[in-house]
Amino acid sequence: MTNPDISKIFGFVPQAEFEALRSDAEYSNALLHTGEGKGNDFLGWVNLPSSTTPEFLTEIKAAAATLRAKAEVVIVIGIGGSYLGTKAVLEALQNPFASLQSERKDPVILFAGHTISEDYMAELMDAVKDRTIATIVISKSGTTTEPAIAFRIVKQEIERRYGAKDAAERIVAITDAARGALKVVADEAGYKTFVIPDDVGGRFSVLTPVGLLPLAVAGVDIDALVAGSQRMEAATSAKVAFDKNPAAIYAAARTALYRKGFKVEILAAYEPALQYFAEWWKQLYGESEGKEGKGIFPAGVIFSTDLHSMGQYIQEGERILFETVISVAAPHREMRIERAANDGDGLNFLAGKRISEVNRMAELGTMLAHVDGGVPNIRVEISRIDEGTLGELLYFFEKACGISGYMLGVNPFDQPGVEAYKKNMFALLEKPGYESATAEIKKRLQ
Ligand code: PA5
Repeated sequence: MTNPDISKIFGFVPQAEFEALRSDAEYSNALLHTGEGKGNDFLGWVNLPSSTTPEFLTEIKAAAATLRAKAEVVIVIGIGGSYLGTKAVLEALQNPFASLQSERKDPVILFAGHTISEDYMAELMDAVKDRTIATIVISKSGTTTEPAIAFRIVKQEIERRYGAKDAAERIVAITDAARGALKVVADEAGYKTFVIPDDVGGRFSVLTPVGLLPLAVAGVDIDALVAGSQRMEAATSAKVAFDKNPAAIYAAARTALYRKGFKVEILAAYEPALQYFAEWWKQLYGESEGKEGKGIFPAGVIFSTDLHSMGQYIQEGERILFETVISVAAPHREMRIERAANDGDGLNFLAGKRISEVNRMAELGTMLAHVDGGVPNIRVEISRIDEGTLGELLYFFEKACGISGYMLGVNPFDQPGVEAYKKNMFALLEKPGYESATAEIKKRLQ
């Protein structure tokens, strides 16, 4: 990955205003390394790639091999940062039509615990009725309600089918080293466990066992993923000068736009494989920046699909939007549009062209149209979608998020606002300890 192309912000932000942010971006990056900024007990992700040893990756791959040998379907249970990173990388790499392939060498990964939908859970359990199953349950706190409910159901099913002893070999828990209900359950039952380091928050945890184990089970090359993140760790270190540091440049560009009133950032990609990458990115930036009445609202689109739904608003709606495009230079596959004897659909002008060439022109045409319509554009280019470039992108956006959060003046590593719904839900469910809030909240709903 090269530096983001920020040339299309300068019609909206004077170059001098961007330049004035250099030192703040460099200082904010340095704070992530010195540990002198806010939330400094959650900076374990900063040096995580370079401290990931080959021995540790071997241990992950061994646990993955056990699950792969035992199950056709591995149910990955988790929510938020304990879900989205795996989902993002998997969707980016997997053939979207894999379910139609008759022979599979990798287990199917299904997700649970990211929703409390009864229909979803019931249909999931129906779907795996005739398949051998195993599960990876992921919760840093070990107490989150959504994954806890899903785990109870999946655990009971595994124990019913295979008995307690074999069940213990089909369940891996990834949680805190010492705290939380999941840790207690895992220790009692003797599950294999992996630890989410204390100093790595959920949304920064994809390169810990949280992401690495399920991805290894799915057949993803985690060595290449980690190697990509290591390259980006080096490229964005505090020792790298601003002009060569992609994370500092991106953070400064989006901060400059925010200060000019561009309060919504749309992460756009022209490859549907990156749809969940945008979901991961939304959580990373939304939970890190959206606090104290501040922060850029993160949105995601896949073009050209969403040009036919969101395109009108982006082109002509409120002028508070800017776009960050993940541009993929080359597809993996080659397919050309053939000449037709009867040019009834009028497409012979495209004959001989690759579909990706049309996609590229859609991308360039859209960028110019949106810039003309008042939407600044930042472009992040990767050569192709693979483990290495995804590892680079994951770390790039994490690093830029930390820098941006400090430039915004918030603690990017907490999420106090997430508790509000939980308190109300527990009071409504009459959870022990919430009795005093129950009567009052029920009255508010009458
Ligand atoms: O980024 C975060 O910290 C959160 O999104 C968490 O990942 C999410 O709430 C899940 O928490 P836990 O892993 O403790 O179940």
